[in-house]
Amino acid sequence: MKIPKLCLLTGAFLLIAVTGSAGALASPALVKEKQCHTCHRFASGPAEKEQSAPDLFFAGDKFQKKWLENFLQHPETIRLTGHTRDPGFLKGTPHTGLHPVLNPEEARQMTDYLMSLKTLKESPPLNLPALSKGKRVRVKILFERDYSCIACHQSYNLTRQPRGGVSGPSLIDAGNRLRPEWVYQWLKNPKAFVEQGRMPLYHFDEETLKRLTQYIMFHKKDDPGK
Ligand code: HEC
Ligand code: HEC
Repeated sequence: MKIPKLCLLTGAFLLIAVTGSAGALASPALVKEKQCHTCHRFASGPAEKEQSAPDLFFAGDKFQKKWLENFLQHPETIRLTGHTRDPGFLKGTPHTGLHPVLNPEEARQMTDYLMSLKTLKESPPLNLPALSKGKRVRVKILFERDYSCIACHQSYNLTRQPRGGVSGPSLIDAGNRLRPEWVYQWLKNPKAFVEQGRMPLYHFDEETLKRLTQYIMFHKKDDPGK
């Protein structure tokens, strides 16, 4: 049988269209079963609707595996006023009360899947040492005074009490939650991950980028800090 060229071409386009979207849908059945995709995006590209939860298509770049597995079993509020583009934002309604809770086996499977979602082409290990106390005090001044990060983010003060603004995600457990490599890339260019976010673009020099990353990684709930 002779197939007209046009048909072949259309067929090829259809195949691309189908496999293209299949890429986005190639998530485990668990995502569908738990309806994660109704709130979160698992693939990049233009948002189809107003998003109600943070994007997860770079979860593997962003999160520490251990934290993620635990969060899926015990979700906690990170954005104290809700997700930035969530309609509940100004009403100050945190949403984790609605969040699905996975059992340990589901959490393990989901964590493996989420950790495979990456957008950074390369993210060489940073291996930044912890800041000395003296340096930390200096970076704290950058964080609080020079760049006003604290206006939008909760962080620890010198006596390890949380304080700061709530319009951005809390950084209180960032040292357990986020990968330093991702924090560094985020501070370099947040738009590379969240196109229409509200985090300012700062154009830091290399030294400042590293210092701020070290400072953020110092924030750990379970570590008394020295
Ligand atoms: C009803 C909407 C909804 C559903 C369904 C939902 N989530 Fe969420 N999720 C949220 C919101 C809102 C947040 C932000 C919570 C916060 O920051 O306090 C969140 C946060 C997260 C985070 C942390 C993201 C970050 O950047 O801090 C992960 C990981 C996550 N969800 C995974 C999942 C998985 C996996 C599923 C399916 C099992 C799921 N979520 C289902 C609304 C939802
Ligand atoms: C005007 C408010 C604002 C200021 C000032 C600000 N941020 Fe943010 N930041 C945000 C918002 C909002 C997000 C969440 C992403 C989004 O929706 O754009 C964010 C995200 C982040 C994240 C990623 C956290 C996560 O879990 O997704 C880090 C790390 C961060 N900011 C660090 C900083 C540092 C360091 C500074 C100062 C140099 C700073 N921010 C200044 C609003 C701000």
